[in-house]
Amino acid sequence: MKKETPFIEVQDLHQRFGDHHVLKGVTTHINKGETVVLLGGSGGGKSVLVKHFVGLLSPYEGKVIVEGEDISDMNERQLGKVRRKVAMMFQNGALFDFLTVGQNIAFPLRERGLKDEAEIERRVIETLEIVRLPGQEDKMPADLSGGMRKRVALARAIVDKATCVLYDEPHAGLDPITADSIDHLIKDLQRDHGMTNIIITHEMRSVFRIADRVIFLKEGNVYWEGTPQEMKDSGDPELTNFIEGRAEPEGACY
Ligand SMILES: Nc1ncnc2c1ncn2[C@@H]1O[C@H](COP(=O)(O)OP(=O)(O)OP(=O)(O)O)[C@@H](O)[C@H]1O
Ligand SMILES: [Mg+2]
Repeated sequence: MKKETPFIEVQDLHQRFGDHHVLKGVTTHINKGETVVLLGGSGGGKSVLVKHFVGLLSPYEGKVIVEGEDISDMNERQLGKVRRKVAMMFQNGALFDFLTVGQNIAFPLRERGLKDEAEIERRVIETLEIVRLPGQEDKMPADLSGGMRKRVALARAIVDKATCVLYDEPHAGLDPITADSIDHLIKDLQRDHGMTNIIITHEMRSVFRIADRVIFLKEGNVYWEGTPQEMKDSGDPELTNFIEGRAEPEGACY
């Protein structure tokens, strides 16, 4: 059996906004090189949880450990290093429309002060190959399809040698074929580059295709963890309803 090394460990994590206790003692882990999907009702705390993995939120209580280092009390400079390792593709990861694809991808490298233009160009070309968009560096974002724009956003996220990617709803707004192509890319990154993938999605079809493991959040806690097959076989009404798309949205306001 393959030895599993935790890449991210979450220990008794609490988060609250005023009186709203959103995370109530989450304890879980994500292994190196694994593709994990976070599931749960709307407003259940999925986005809040992953923001702790890159220090965009710091714990109210508890710890987040990335590759053995407690990031809970890190300063912005230390977090900069974590954010190079753990890239985040936001729910609306927009590109800069006034920059070319290549300039978009180069942006984080220039931001952190890389000046060697030959090195920047080499990295842009290499990363475009990784996301299966070779030779597209001179295009403008407006001339690309929705799926291609997602790939460019992914390239920009990983260009600085990220080893883990957090995807917040990467399938949102994509047609099924384009969503499939994003799934392929996620699995290719895992297989060919050992990438650790953490995905928030509501697309059950994708979950069954890409997830090694599912972490199901409910009411600010881990309700269930296991493989997609175990989820299907669990017989748990909560999980079954979710798989069949009958789940009541959590915390929804009507
Ligand atoms: N910065 C913030 N300030 C106050 N409340 C917040 C903040 N961020 C999140 N929340 C609240 O925390 C709860 C959990 O939000 P979160 O975005 O993590 O949900 P989610 O599980 O990602 O839902 P969805 O599936 O709809 O994206 C929500 O009630 C949200 O309003
Ligand atoms: Mg969310």
